Amino acid sequence: TEPLSIADFSKKIGKPITEIVKYFFAHGVMLNQNAILNESQIGELALEFGFDFKKEEVLTKENIFEQLQVEDNPEDLTPRAPIVTIMGHVDHGKTTLLDSMRNSNVVDGEAGGITQAIGAYQVKNKATNKSITFIDTPGHEAFTEMRSRGANATDIVILIVAADDGVKPQTEEAIDHAKQANVPIIVFVNKTDKPGADPEKVKVELMNYGLVAEEFGGDIPFIFGSAKQKIGLEELQETILLIADVLDLKANAKKFASGVVLEAHLDKAKGPVASILVQAGTLNMRDVLVAGPTFGAIKDIENANGLKITSAGPSKPVVIFGLNSVPNAGDKFLVMNDEKMARSIAEAQAEKQLAAERMTKQSFTLDSIKNHI
Ligand code: GTP
Ligand code: MG
Repeated sequence: TEPLSIADFSKKIGKPITEIVKYFFAHGVMLNQNAILNESQIGELALEFGFDFKKEEVLTKENIFEQLQVEDNPEDLTPRAPIVTIMGHVDHGKTTLLDSMRNSNVVDGEAGGITQAIGAYQVKNKATNKSITFIDTPGHEAFTEMRSRGANATDIVILIVAADDGVKPQTEEAIDHAKQANVPIIVFVNKTDKPGADPEKVKVELMNYGLVAEEFGGDIPFIFGSAKQKIGLEELQETILLIADVLDLKANAKKFASGVVLEAHLDKAKGPVASILVQAGTLNMRDVLVAGPTFGAIKDIENANGLKITSAGPSKPVVIFGLNSVPNAGDKFLVMNDEKMARSIAEAQAEKQLAAERMTKQSFTLDSIKNHI
């Protein structure tokens, strides 16, 4: 196999050399365009820039370069469910909305009724039999980072605003995240069943944030409803599916899975548990994957309802068991089905994280020294 320099690699994936150099620099590693990349670095770049490996054979040190798959064959692309993130101020009804759509009761099980982590679920629209993947985010101010993560993994944002409360700080912040992610926004004006609810006022208020309803000459769909009374849910799903049709969302299910970690924790009995969203490819039992600084072979896959499944394709939110340690929420994952490779890539990523942390610490100390002069 020919060795691959950063310059060769940049040509291969169609990204500027500076972006690749910047990636390593941000992680505390100085490389110039002539630096020869090793297989762990190739794996990391695959994670970072979102391309995959062909599924033809097991990846090895020798074949990793040929197995790189930068672009999908158009004939391998098939429709996938839209990924929709629900965002809004604390207590405006995000989790209730999702509960009503999936007929479950997550809210009752939450400490103080506050969502603490990102939850992801899939709902099947009754009228069309089409699936929609929903990501629930916490509204609490402490969870800015999680909301931005949700927004980044999403195709559409639902902004939920309680009609008796109006636009609040986390509503504004959600609007910012949605705008940064550059995805279509649907406004769901909730709690219209409550006395003192003024949905029309919310519509006018949101104009100040550039969210203009169709009747006022804009292009933002507004739906008035009640998550609790199950009003407006059909219309909401119809609107989502309409937008999804326009977006023409597709993915290649015929390759190793890749995606993002939504939430992860250590379970006393089951070990590291990670909620992940498959964005491309198909995840299978016993697949070996890298997820940020960790790796492992999948022992079990559960769907969002806690049922065991054996594989998961694009847009599926699932829970996986079998990682060696707990990854960070927001880490990208990639299946490579070669334990040695996965380990070396995970180790390299862990080292980089440490280096990056050291760098920020160093600049902090420099700043504090300056402040003391
Ligand atoms: P965080 O996760 O803490 O950000 O809150 P959330 O946005 O997920 O709100 P949640 O769904 O937990 O709802 C907060 C409260 O509002 C609960 O007591 C719900 O029962 C109530 N609620 C939600 N939707 C409606 C609605 O349409 N009408 C009425 N009357 N109450 C609602
Ligand atoms: Mg909630």
